Amino acid sequence: METPIPDAPPNAEQIEYWNGAVGLRWLTYNDWLDERTAAYGRAAFAAAAPRPGEAVLDIGCGAGATTFELARAVGRDGSATGIDISAPLLGRARERAAALGLAVEFLEADASRPPFAPQRFDLLFSRFGVMFFDDPVAAFAELRKTLKPGGRIAFACWQEPRLNDWYELPLTAIAHLVERAPVDTRQPGPFAFSDPGYTREVLTAAGFAQIELAPFATPFYLGRGATREAMADDAMEQVFRVGPVARLLEARGEELNAAARDAIRAALLQLADDDGLEVGGAIWVVTARAG
Ligand SMILES: C[S@@+](CC[C@H](N)C(=O)[O-])C[C@H]1O[C@@H](n2cnc3c(N)ncnc32)[C@H](O)[C@@H]1O
Repeated sequence: METPIPDAPPNAEQIEYWNGAVGLRWLTYNDWLDERTAAYGRAAFAAAAPRPGEAVLDIGCGAGATTFELARAVGRDGSATGIDISAPLLGRARERAAALGLAVEFLEADASRPPFAPQRFDLLFSRFGVMFFDDPVAAFAELRKTLKPGGRIAFACWQEPRLNDWYELPLTAIAHLVERAPVDTRQPGPFAFSDPGYTREVLTAAGFAQIELAPFATPFYLGRGATREAMADDAMEQVFRVGPVARLLEARGEELNAAARDAIRAALLQLADDDGLEVGGAIWVVTARAG
């Protein structure tokens, strides 16, 4: 990770990241990603238990799938707002809301500086959208101020990499070709809250209480298709477009990329069976209350 530029706004690197090529790639794969992450979102949603009439904020809402679920749960007497830094993903979210006829508000803003009146929300929710803050304590402290007294937060974040095959498997397959840096779980990224002790520290320092982390694990289909080869091809698409391998192999030359493709495809093929190509995924469902 590069050293932040002095005086750059908070999360400048992430704002660039989610508005650049990655944001556009996520658009292409959004339906695919929505399907793969649905079960994890449902686990966090069950813990959040949104009720009719509540005001909820979906942090890092992306293209809005979970914001729509929240809107349906709180109904006409409630409100669902999505906040994200990615203009392309929010563009898709607004299109989808219009097509669904749902009254949902989407805001392009940094959630670490939430542009809301204090005590506006009953519930803060997120599916994998809170792991990207430069200063998580400051961000969560600001977000806490937007909660009504006794208001709650519930979010899904990944557990450690070794429990997440979707991340580990392709990297292990190319370990002989490319050296990988160890995951720094204190830096913004998918594993920023994989260490439960650290998550508790951050939320406590940000003024939250009754912090609980519930593990939830379920496999998902990384690849689908009529044949094992088609399943592996489907999985390869994703592995090479979004995620750690795409980042690691960027600008590494065609020869290395070709060798990496062969190695990963061989590893993926071994996982394919009649139903699809399944990989493990494990998250924490984190819940807390405004202290
Ligand atoms: C892994 S994606 C998850 C998107 C969505 N929640 C979903 O489940 O499909 C992470 C999202 O967090 C957003 N994000 C990252 N940092 C953010 C910040 N500081 N404020 C608001 N959104 C942020 C990104 O733009 C991206 O849409």
